[in-house]
Amino acid sequence: MSEVMNITVTVNGTQYRRTVEPRLLLSDFLRHDLGLTGTHVGCEHGVCGACTVLLDDVPVRSCLVFAVQANNHTVTTVEALGTPDNLHPIQEAFRESHAVQCGFCTPGILMSLVPFLQENPDPTEQQIREAISGNLCRCTGYQHIVDAVKLAAEKMKASEGVKP
Ligand code: FES
Ligand code: FES
Repeated sequence: MSEVMNITVTVNGTQYRRTVEPRLLLSDFLRHDLGLTGTHVGCEHGVCGACTVLLDDVPVRSCLVFAVQANNHTVTTVEALGTPDNLHPIQEAFRESHAVQCGFCTPGILMSLVPFLQENPDPTEQQIREAISGNLCRCTGYQHIVDAVKLAAEKMKASEGVKP
């Protein structure tokens, strides 16, 4: 049997203790061990951005991080944003701007945008395009996404205590 390691990871505010193989990817840990399938896996080699989550509030590609590297750290996934009845302002903006088609890229884009909009409350279009340049979308053509980010910035400024 392969070597295994005990890890403790706080995901979306809940602390999990699991025994994992050192080779287990964080993306697979989230999806398979914790059942958090909102994090999508596309290319599995750091290109598409679909697997983006926050590791200690910094966006990372979870297909390029081993689960053991998250030991004693905090992970935030798209499940920590809104619920169907109480969407996060960024999710609302994506819905209202028709910025989602198949939706495969959407969780990764949302998780890239959360810290971006917190740090850039009045982004220019160029800044928005740079912020999402690491997230590939094969459906929308990006213009609706850019429009959604502009709307999200307005909504976030109007919201207080926006999570996460
Ligand atoms: S699945 Fe991680 S970057 Fe594509
Ligand atoms: S909405 Fe389909 S890949 Fe982006």
